[in-house]
Amino acid sequence: MPERKKSGTNLLYSMMAEAASYDDAVIMGRGDPDFDTPEHIIAAAKEAMVQNHSDSSPPEGLPELREAIAARVERVNGVAYDPASEIVVTNGGQEALFLMVLTLIGPGDEMIVPEPNYNTYLDSTRFAGGRQIEVDTFPQQNFRADPADVRRNVNERTKALLLVSPNNPAASVISPQDMRDLVQIACDHDLFIISDEIYDLFVYDDVVHTSAAAMPGARERTLTLNALSKAYSMTGWRVGWVTGPAPLMERLRELKAAITGATSIISQYAGIAALTGPQEPVQMMADTYVRRRRAVLQALDEMGIEYGVPEGGQFIFADIGFTGMDSMQFAQRVLTEQHVLVYPGSAFSEARKQYIRMTFLQPEDKLREGLERMKIAMEGIRAELGNGSAS
Ligand SMILES: Cc1ncc(COP(=O)(O)O)c(C=O)c1O
Repeated sequence: MPERKKSGTNLLYSMMAEAASYDDAVIMGRGDPDFDTPEHIIAAAKEAMVQNHSDSSPPEGLPELREAIAARVERVNGVAYDPASEIVVTNGGQEALFLMVLTLIGPGDEMIVPEPNYNTYLDSTRFAGGRQIEVDTFPQQNFRADPADVRRNVNERTKALLLVSPNNPAASVISPQDMRDLVQIACDHDLFIISDEIYDLFVYDDVVHTSAAAMPGARERTLTLNALSKAYSMTGWRVGWVTGPAPLMERLRELKAAITGATSIISQYAGIAALTGPQEPVQMMADTYVRRRRAVLQALDEMGIEYGVPEGGQFIFADIGFTGMDSMQFAQRVLTEQHVLVYPGSAFSEARKQYIRMTFLQPEDKLREGLERMKIAMEGIRAELGNGSAS
């Protein structure tokens, strides 16, 4: 594991521990939804336990759950998959992403990734013996990955493109035209695509989510990840999935069987209830995020902090470079002084140390309280900037 990532992860853990020691902490860094899991999902899990459904599941998951996933993916993402041979249920998105990378990337292979990105892709690529080739993205373009930059980075070692849309931490969403162009690059150079769509139900303003596998030419070369963690507030239940063409899924299923076997059967029953039951809780969460996102953006505007407009997901990646502090100093100061936890961009990559990642996964009153306290910290920092002593 690369040193910078290890220290980034350790840094986040120590900041979370400090936040936990404050009774009045406001957590605006972590990425786990704050809502309770909807009751009918919990009821289904209880029922599975009462019915003693501890019987085994095939490594790829219960057939009923795979059918529910196939229906969801066809309805939302516009791609049809055979539940018998093209879907594997995983222990959350995290296992799904590792399985996808291990299926496609081997020693010496390169994977092109827009930067910044979700940490664990780097870890999994390293474990597979591969290498990430980063394509920079910038707040002025809302962290858009320019297909021309991607194309420039393709060489004979390139094996795959990683597309995370909506993105964590940059909150960018790949437009339909860019998606078409990116898929075209993959087709032209015979590359695989790893598509992480875990935030696909959360897009803002007029932005639309486009699934890579739905583009012409993409299905046969694309593995797609999704999970219940974000959409159903089920982080701890550990249910995710990968969809893809049968030949690739056969290898992925073998890896899944060898690494963890089946996903918890109780969680799988909960997953069936999530996907086939009422969807109003998902809509309620999506509507709430719209309001909270607006509140955070307004507060950042008032503080004079710039950001790439978050088009989807649950994050805001904001630029605090003008303070003269790096994001670690900034986040530490806001935490210690105001008990507000934001994540330093340096935890995602060294190149992003002038950014902070904020989330809006707190009840609205708490979120507003956190933003007010952040404003107080900013006033202090600006006053020191005025007399040349901010640190
Ligand atoms: C982009 C992305 N992919 C995958 C995951 C892993 O999701 P899970 O919590 O289901 O393991 C996360 C978690 O935050 C994420 O942000």
